[in-house]
Amino acid sequence: MKNVLILNSSPIPKESISTKLTSFFEQELLTMKGFNIFTRDLGVTPPSHLTALALSGFFNDPSEHNGDQKQALSEGLLLIRELENADIVIIGSAMHNHTVTSGLKAYIDQVTRPGLTFQYKADGPHGLLTNKQVFVIISAGGDYSSEETKKTDFVTPLLKEVLGFIGLDNIQFIPVFGSFLGNKTSEKNQNIAKQSIVKAVKQLQ
Ligand SMILES: Cc1cc2nc3c(=O)[nH]c(=O)nc-3n(C[C@H](O)[C@H](O)[C@H](O)COP(=O)(O)O)c2cc1C
Repeated sequence: MKNVLILNSSPIPKESISTKLTSFFEQELLTMKGFNIFTRDLGVTPPSHLTALALSGFFNDPSEHNGDQKQALSEGLLLIRELENADIVIIGSAMHNHTVTSGLKAYIDQVTRPGLTFQYKADGPHGLLTNKQVFVIISAGGDYSSEETKKTDFVTPLLKEVLGFIGLDNIQFIPVFGSFLGNKTSEKNQNIAKQSIVKAVKQLQ
């Protein structure tokens, strides 16, 4: 049995194209046996921003935390445990202002934790979440596929860097661009993304 964690990050799930496509991914997986799927919504119910109290215990060993620090860090710990348990992570990333939504950014801040998801050794940082496959579906109103427009897509490089930093370096990006470029373009791009998903699921069998 493989554990699959789906992370949606659009604040408008009913209209969201990235959520529609993570649901399509889930349906494709459910046509086969062997996948245990858990979904977390980072858009409608975003994780907390890191507080001063949480950060006061962020860099020490959990055994040294007092009760208040434990409480402040418990949300992040839960999110980290979910990630650790996952063999496959599917992220639906809506583009807001050229980058990830604030909900997904808050999640990244909660799960990028020294000693738990990364650690520094003599030769530099090491990600601790290894052997996981990650799929990132990026939905944007514009089209960021040309050499010129790629320069203003900060979702792809950000996620590549921060996920890689915690060990999630086996990532397949599935873009679904053009939701603001008319229904025809949007639907065409959604169908292309669906084909990529069908192909990815076949390889997971
Ligand atoms: C607050 C906000 C900011 C946005 N910023 C951008 C942007 O910088 N570039 C872009 O191409 N589309 C932008 N869009 C459009 C979204 O990327 C588009 O609606 C996309 O489909 C969102 O994903 P979703 O459908 O999963 O919510 C923005 C939308 C919102 C609501």
